[in-house]
Amino acid sequence: MEKGEDSSTFKMGNSAQERSLPYVPDCYVVPPSSKPCDSNSGIVPTIDVSRLKGGDDERRGVIQELSLACQHLGFFQIVNHGINQNILDDALEVANSFFELPAKEKKQFMSNDVYAPVRYSTSLKDGLDTIQFWRIFLKHYAHPLHRWIHLWPENPPGYREKMGKFCEEVRKLSIELMGAITESLGLGRDYLSSRMDENGMQVMTVNCYPPCPDPETALGLPPHSDYSCITLLLQNLDGLKIFDPMAHGGSGRWVGVPQVTGVLKVHIGDHVEVLSNGLYKSIVHKVTLNEEKTRISLASLHSLGMDDKMSVPRELVNDENPVRYKESSFNDFLDFLVKNDISQGDRFIDTLRIKD
Ligand code: OGA
Ligand code: NI
Repeated sequence: MEKGEDSSTFKMGNSAQERSLPYVPDCYVVPPSSKPCDSNSGIVPTIDVSRLKGGDDERRGVIQELSLACQHLGFFQIVNHGINQNILDDALEVANSFFELPAKEKKQFMSNDVYAPVRYSTSLKDGLDTIQFWRIFLKHYAHPLHRWIHLWPENPPGYREKMGKFCEEVRKLSIELMGAITESLGLGRDYLSSRMDENGMQVMTVNCYPPCPDPETALGLPPHSDYSCITLLLQNLDGLKIFDPMAHGGSGRWVGVPQVTGVLKVHIGDHVEVLSNGLYKSIVHKVTLNEEKTRISLASLHSLGMDDKMSVPRELVNDENPVRYKESSFNDFLDFLVKNDISQGDRFIDTLRIKD
């Protein structure tokens, strides 16, 4: 195997990261403008969400913190979220064990079909990325659980039960957070609850970033924002980098989000940017690699139903604030994904903006 071979040599099942190649092939090397090593560890807003269940004043205080974090960054961490540490640890453990299974176990889930409810793949868009990313992932729908769980991996034993428990708990939390978000926008706590709750989508992305022999040259994921309303993320190691667009007088900078046990990260996704008519920003983030350790992350993406369109609420529109975004659904995002190249910086949210 020569260093110069192109992406087609490293399709899923045969990727450098699955084979633990001792070098980084050229087609994984990111251009100097997106070098991994340009971030500092920074302070990110941390919110104690147990106070959402407190008295009115307490709840109002949390909602204000949340609103500021969503306006400035589109990102915050949550503590005291009520999910038992065992549930978090178990989910990370079964995820890790899944990726350690023999190739033939994982192969049955291999798919390039972005519409498939369960699929195993590598990089970002396997076989189509001009630059490859040092990532292996399993994506599966998770709500309603009984509709999808029988399609999930049966191995490792306990995967369905432990990942299922995590998915359910994270989903309950996502509904609570979305209630706080719509309340912070003056829309009331239940503005989206029926559309998120019974009919909403939950996509669980189980990511594995094996050790990379030269972490300064490749990335786990390129800069992107999530299509979701919100994404809740659990990681076992550092590696998540977020872009703070206001830093350095508006030129922005990358900030490393350290791993802290028990803490969950919350990304504001494109659909909350639309919901807020641009007041809240979807966060641009990327993933850097580690030379020695395998990084696992569980990203749970929460949105409205498959074909339910998110649009700017009438309540947020007036003469000074015209509608700034077109309506769109999760399915519209999948169509976008098929036709566009996120690794080249294409963003779904940019296709939704209405120019003045
Ligand atoms: C994602 C994502 C971040 C991570 O799956 O969309 O951004 O830390 N993951 O793996
Ligand atoms: Ni993401």
